[in-house]
Amino acid sequence: MKKNILSLMKPEVVAIKQQDIFKFNARAKAIPDVINMTIGEPSFTTPDHIKLAAIKAIEDNKTHYTVPEGDHELLNAVASYLHTKYDLNYDPESEIIATTGVTEGVFSAFNAILQPGDEVLIPSPSFTIYGPDANFNRATPVYIDTSKTGFKVTPDVLDEIMRTHPRIKIFLFNYPSNPTGVSYTHDELAGLADVLRKYDVFVLSDEIYSELTYNFKHEPSPSSYLSKHCC
Ligand SMILES: Cc1ncc(COP(=O)(O)O)c(C=O)c1O
Repeated sequence: MKKNILSLMKPEVVAIKQQDIFKFNARAKAIPDVINMTIGEPSFTTPDHIKLAAIKAIEDNKTHYTVPEGDHELLNAVASYLHTKYDLNYDPESEIIATTGVTEGVFSAFNAILQPGDEVLIPSPSFTIYGPDANFNRATPVYIDTSKTGFKVTPDVLDEIMRTHPRIKIFLFNYPSNPTGVSYTHDELAGLADVLRKYDVFVLSDEIYSELTYNFKHEPSPSSYLSKHCC
């Protein structure tokens, strides 16, 4: 008797459930004139200069494989953006790679770092991909409830949880946050960096909404306060 095809697959893949946010988004999109605040998409269409650049790239036959790390013109542009905007220095030859969006970036980083039994620290409420990405690697998400601290992680709470969870390998830090919109000041980030400096932990920061900071300047992640190369 032939086995069910699902029983031949990785159990971690079979266990993945469709995220409710995508179901809800599909339902909201089907209602005319509704203001859809589900997945993080801008309400405008792609600006013309971006559309034209994409069309020109196709017309110029830039349709072949790039090098695996991503086109070096793009990596140089990323390095230059980080330098001009945040005074950060990352080497485009060895410290920056391109992925197809944050989803692939987080998935790849988790795959590279996590081993079964590790833990991933995730401030909650959070965007939905991080927990399943941890589970996929047989790691456990550890959620910090931020609802009593203004939806922010504070140094005291962070220190307590890091001290009591020695298997935490990754601190997944998303700000400005989806869904709360909360962001952090320079001093708040420096306070978190002081705590993180004490532990062997990767800070994986999802700053996809950095350009949507309106009333103060977006400050780069605590990882930029920490040494890039250790020991
Ligand atoms: C916080 C956050 N990170 C990542 C994503 C997905 O990013 P991408 O489309 O680049 O994979 C979203 C989309 O809503 C998001 O809100």
